[in-house]
Amino acid sequence: MSIQTSIAAEGTDSAAPLTGAELRAIRQDFPLLQQSVNGHPLVYLDSGATSQNPRTVLDAEREYYEVHNSAVHRGAHTLAALATESFEDARSRVARFIGASDDEVVWTSNATEALNLVAYGISNASLGRGGEAAAALRIGPGDEIVTTEMEHHANLIPWQELAARTGATLRFIPVDDDGALRMDDLDRIVTDRTKVVAFTHVSNVLGSINPVEQLIGRAHAVGAIAVLDACQSAPHLALDVAALDVDFAAFSGHKMLAPTGIGVLYGKSALLNALPPFLTGGSMITTVTMEQTEYLPAPQRFEAGTQKVSQAIALAAAVDYLDGIGMHRIAAHEARLGRRLAEGLAEIPSVRLLGPAVGRERVGLASFDVRGIHSHDVGQFLDDRGIAVRVGHHCAQPLHRRLGVTASTRASAYLYTTDDEVDQLIAGVADAVDFFGAHA
Ligand SMILES: Cc1ncc(COP(=O)(O)O)c(C=O)c1O
Repeated sequence: MSIQTSIAAEGTDSAAPLTGAELRAIRQDFPLLQQSVNGHPLVYLDSGATSQNPRTVLDAEREYYEVHNSAVHRGAHTLAALATESFEDARSRVARFIGASDDEVVWTSNATEALNLVAYGISNASLGRGGEAAAALRIGPGDEIVTTEMEHHANLIPWQELAARTGATLRFIPVDDDGALRMDDLDRIVTDRTKVVAFTHVSNVLGSINPVEQLIGRAHAVGAIAVLDACQSAPHLALDVAALDVDFAAFSGHKMLAPTGIGVLYGKSALLNALPPFLTGGSMITTVTMEQTEYLPAPQRFEAGTQKVSQAIALAAAVDYLDGIGMHRIAAHEARLGRRLAEGLAEIPSVRLLGPAVGRERVGLASFDVRGIHSHDVGQFLDDRGIAVRVGHHCAQPLHRRLGVTASTRASAYLYTTDDEVDQLIAGVADAVDFFGAHA
């Protein structure tokens, strides 16, 4: 029986951690988790990079191709109308999942494209595109863009490029030795020269949850827009963009049980309608002459060309699955796994846990350095036991540099991860220390 039909005892609003029976039912919904790798049952601890798909998501995508596949927003025939209906219904379900209105959800390929969309939109506004509506979004020399030292490259490089194109200055909020944002520097760094403040909700390296309300409040106090990288929060926490009052937020479907190729840009309606488009072409216009074009309102003005229809429908099935369990319950389950991970790793000699110390808040993710062993060797050793982790810089080179390491090993859990899997990881790392003779 699928978890969707077996759950309910706790209700989806409760924050009670998942029971053992629920967890077993959840795992049954994920075909990929049933396999062995290198002769061992797979222990998948790389959900921070990409998550696995439950059957309902796989079925939703296959059913679209078997029954409805057609061009959306273009055809007059029945199939095209049904495909358009499913595509727009998917948008409504995803909007509801994050507390947004339907017209505030723009489909993108992934979070990277969503963040670039905002940066290129501002860049186009700065070139004078978008008329009076876009005037407030223009930036130039003397203006500042603020990000943080812990960003994924996807939320750093687009702002570096925007600064280079417009002559604005890029500044950043530093992190301390534990990887926490130096919030005591906030008022000094975010000032009335600041036009954009872009930051991650949850660090993909540290597992820490940033004080985003404070960052958004400060951005608004100086008249700047706040851009949230929600890639590691939308899949794991109950995200409410309206309650946060954030201006833009970006996340990727493949990190929250959906297939690759679909992402979301949330934007406040007025801002989206003021932002000049980034990609142009079919399906985003009202009138085109040989000289000029009128654009549709958001979200369509940002959805040029043939869209990611089956992926959007699958993302809606994914958020239904998450909602069916309850994001508060998923967050509680993962917080517990995060504590177990941190406690276990911190006890191993030679292991340095990055980010929040044991006992401090973190999601179900932990990165660590094993003194004397390259993370690729740790990853290989674990893989021989069927344990999948991420190694390297996790697209966050400046943060690794700040913490004095070139690379780390990252274990990241999700709703389907068990205590036993976390314990296998910890035992595997302890054995790697023995095997490589890396005792402190
Ligand atoms: C915090 C964060 N931001 C942005 C991204 C980029 O996501 P994508 O590669 O799906 O665009 C990731 C992916 O690892 C991430 O963890």
